[in-house]
Amino acid sequence: MGQAWGFGRYGGPEVQEFFDRPDPAPGRGEVLIRVTVAGVNPLDHLLRAGLVPGLDGGRPFPRVLGMEAAGIVLALGEDVEGLEVGDAVFGFALTGGGTYAETTVLSAPNTARIPPGLSATVAATLPVAGTTAVDALDQLGLPAGATLLINGVGGGVGLAVARLAAARELRVIGTGSTAKREHAEAVGVRFIDYTAEDVVAVARELAPRGFDGIVDLVGGTSLRTVAPLARDPRNVIAVGDQSVPEVGGRFVERRLDRSNLERSARLALDGVLAPVITEVYPLSDAPAALAVVENGHTSGKVVIKVA
Ligand SMILES: NC(=O)c1ccc[n+]([C@@H]2O[C@H](COP(=O)([O-])OP(=O)(O)OC[C@H]3O[C@@H](n4cnc5c(N)ncnc54)[C@H](OP(=O)(O)O)[C@@H]3O)[C@@H](O)[C@H]2O)c1
Repeated sequence: MGQAWGFGRYGGPEVQEFFDRPDPAPGRGEVLIRVTVAGVNPLDHLLRAGLVPGLDGGRPFPRVLGMEAAGIVLALGEDVEGLEVGDAVFGFALTGGGTYAETTVLSAPNTARIPPGLSATVAATLPVAGTTAVDALDQLGLPAGATLLINGVGGGVGLAVARLAAARELRVIGTGSTAKREHAEAVGVRFIDYTAEDVVAVARELAPRGFDGIVDLVGGTSLRTVAPLARDPRNVIAVGDQSVPEVGGRFVERRLDRSNLERSARLALDGVLAPVITEVYPLSDAPAALAVVENGHTSGKVVIKVA
């Protein structure tokens, strides 16, 4: 039995609640873990609102919030390869078990060992933001010296893309509100404050021949405003807005498998994908942690330290 935080029905923050649940039994291809740290992501409140039903695992209510975690393996389901009881691991809860909880089940093919030297806190941020950054930049495949615009650079994925892009020797320009300037400039981004500057005018000045690639983390009107800045619309990669083909761009192709997790962990160990963790909450403050992300203006990564 362990404490968990989730929701009793689809809705806004008012449907959230703490509850006790028995340790979930690991099914075929799953591992039961004691959660050490859970990452907090915009997807969590979208799932709570019932906006992404394909991803919620179809479990009965109350459901537990959270998609990613680091923890210690307590038990193995059938057909689990490459993981043992006692391993420190990180990965995705793809079958709806949630991660804002003392124990949960992760999908074994989407879970990897935490390499020595990497903290559980950093590892817990890699499944969603870390591997998304890797995937978006791999999809663009830009050579060193190319110019990249990151729309929404100050959040979890944006700063990860910025760090990785710097390591690939791209010239990086990023947009965000005033409070994001310091974090963005610290990772080498030429920052445009969308609350104080004309984003399109400044971006055109900085890249008169257009951008070789754009990674968009904002979507909607903002995506439509920046998309024409790309030299080739196919090199607009949206991470959150699936309507991106309407502007000629592509949605990020995600790889959630163990080898991509292992790669992101190596990049984190090398400092290339070191996340900017701005806020750490105990499980008892999970409502505050998700509220920070739900307000849409997160700085870096927010995590919940469970154990
Ligand atoms: N497809 C996938 O597998 C996948 C994976 C990860 C994330 N996502 C999606 O990708 C999106 C970003 O994720 P995230 O974790 O990076 O979110 P996040 O941490 O909330 O960051 C979003 C950032 O965008 C900034 N922003 C908001 N409006 C803006 C605007 N008009 N112009 C520029 N910046 C603006 C926000 O702060 P400021 O406004 O204060 O600058 C915030 O820093 C979300 O929609 C998420 O669901 C998808």
